[in-house]
Amino acid sequence: MLLHNRYSLGFLPTPIHSLSKLSTKYPDYNLFIKRDDHTGLAGGGNKTRKLEFLIQDAINNNCKIILTAGAQQSNHCRQTAAACAIAGLECHLLLGGTKPKIYEGNLLLSNVLGAKIHFAGENRKGEDMESLKTELEIKGKKCYIIPYGGSNITGALGFVHAIKELKDQLIEQKINIDYIFFASSSGGTQAGMIIGCDLFNFDVELYPINIDKDENMGSSTENNILNIIDDGKKILDIKADYQLKDIKLIRDYDKAGYGNVTKEEINAIKELATTEGIIIDPVYTARAFNGMLDHLNKKKLKPNSNVLFWHTGGFPSIFNYADKLK
Ligand SMILES: Cc1ncc(COP(=O)(O)O)c(C=O)c1O
Repeated sequence: MLLHNRYSLGFLPTPIHSLSKLSTKYPDYNLFIKRDDHTGLAGGGNKTRKLEFLIQDAINNNCKIILTAGAQQSNHCRQTAAACAIAGLECHLLLGGTKPKIYEGNLLLSNVLGAKIHFAGENRKGEDMESLKTELEIKGKKCYIIPYGGSNITGALGFVHAIKELKDQLIEQKINIDYIFFASSSGGTQAGMIIGCDLFNFDVELYPINIDKDENMGSSTENNILNIIDDGKKILDIKADYQLKDIKLIRDYDKAGYGNVTKEEINAIKELATTEGIIIDPVYTARAFNGMLDHLNKKKLKPNSNVLFWHTGGFPSIFNYADKLK
């Protein structure tokens, strides 16, 4: 079936476990974590799941070059570089901003992993990928574009598959989960989870915390998610009829803007690190974790419920925010 057509890149299934020490601080709730920071691809993260499907699709289409885009600290780009190294594909990354004097965090790793890096100034979401593709194909090699964040239906299949993985783990471990909190940015992770919950009859309430308040090429994240679901309908037996109003995205924690780290994210990082010894990243997972803690503190969830934080990875960018984490 469609979900088996993937290039193996990750250590799956990723572990799920209780946050027992943190749970004692919130007696109304039982807290759990899903460890996609342990997918294993050069530092791990959620994009490994998407890349299993995207890289397979590139190979199926006889492409020898992979081109994708993101911010300089993009976890997606770092994992794409690692995936290309494994699959023997040439990797080109189109990153926002200008070339810094020193490469740090994810940028450093993408370079070490052999990616060819291009700087795109203001355009951090792949606006210039089509023109770069034309240039790259001049020598006759076919180039495969992975959209910003790996967010199209092919990439989202990684999270359709992940929901099946989680459901099987919960059955095996006899755990019932009421809520899943996670970081949502380009939308593919969320779209995949929505489709997965529908396909596998998994009854859970998703709490996607929005990370980036900016649009992507003139389209809102909600719209992008709906478009991916609509594309999913063409290849999968999705039951529900989703409208824009059904796409929930919690926009209460994105005010500082993408990549701007505030005391909320710093406190979230320190809270999880000092109670459970787990590192989250400043840009995505700390913002989402802060959103979850806020919901717990304000008792916005039903009492005695089981709450899962889906750790989507990203720790290398922490080294780019050393001044904030002193
Ligand atoms: C660590 C981390 N978490 C969450 C996300 C959000 O995933 P998506 O872009 O699929 O919404 C990203 C995206 O780059 C990420 O790097």
